Amino acid sequence: MRYVVTGAAGFIGSHLTEALFHSGHDVTAIDCFSDYYDAAVKEENARGFDVRRLDLASDEIDVAGHDAVFHLAGQPGARSFGPVFADYVRRNLLATQRVFEAAAAARTPVVWASSSSVYGDAERYPTPEDATPQPNNPYGITKLACEHLHDTYARIFGLHAVGLRYFTVYGPRQRPDMAFARAVAALARDEPFEIYGDGSQSRSFTYVADVVDATIRALDAPPGVYNVGGGEEASMQEALKLLEEIAGRPLQVVHAPPQTGDMRRTRADTARLERAVGWRATTPLREGLAAHWSWASARVAAG
Ligand code: UGA
Repeated sequence: MRYVVTGAAGFIGSHLTEALFHSGHDVTAIDCFSDYYDAAVKEENARGFDVRRLDLASDEIDVAGHDAVFHLAGQPGARSFGPVFADYVRRNLLATQRVFEAAAAARTPVVWASSSSVYGDAERYPTPEDATPQPNNPYGITKLACEHLHDTYARIFGLHAVGLRYFTVYGPRQRPDMAFARAVAALARDEPFEIYGDGSQSRSFTYVADVVDATIRALDAPPGVYNVGGGEEASMQEALKLLEEIAGRPLQVVHAPPQTGDMRRTRADTARLERAVGWRATTPLREGLAAHWSWASARVAAG
């Protein structure tokens, strides 16, 4: 098969691209190498394959001749109030609208990355897909707006789309602004880690290999939106304690104020995706964190 992957030099996109290549598929890998974090990190992520530099918000997009598009490119980061809002509109909403246009025109199915951030402080836990979305921040608002685009392009233009609400994904190559990436780097370098609030906030942390598996299986799912979340929920305090055990050394923690727009809690109900394609997360947090730590500590040791 022949696929497009957008955001191919990013954290999840680079793992997905590699998995598709390893299964013998052709991949047109696309990324704009935005400056949200060091582009050298993205070059390193994409070391094993060629990436076309393309800005989805302005450059021409043609997906004809491909069997599906995996649209993972976007402006991430849940702490997103203030002047950066324009970046979220451009890189999430506008870019996704242009991908949907191109995919609808070519009659090519799309699997794309939405987010658990659409739920905000959710109505109920575990949270199923039909809970009322109430995002806490601009990032979540733009992802929810993309879901409306998805729905409208499906109804009006017959776009075949599957949106995946990823829940706090972690593992090797995790984005450097995310909590575990910072914590493993701090542990490896014996530097302090800043925790926002008291550390009681919790997440359905989801290991990246499980996410890649869900994303590929989603090709066979009926159109719609699906949660992709880890089976265990852990608070930040619990996760950091586990990480200290794995690393065999203490983490210096410094406290910072809670971040505006941060969610208190996420816990995914993944029954819908399990019914559709038989997927559920299988990597325990301890195992995933051990893989994340071993990757990060080797990288720091290598300088
Ligand atoms: C993550 C991603 O950053 C989003 O792109 C993604 O869409 C979102 O998951 C999602 O699931 O929708 P978040 O859950 O905030 O957002 O992930 P982390 O950055 O790993 O933060 C986890 C928790 O650790 C948060 O409560 C955060 O406030 C806290 N944190 C983060 C710290 O205490 N210190 C830090 O340095 C970073």
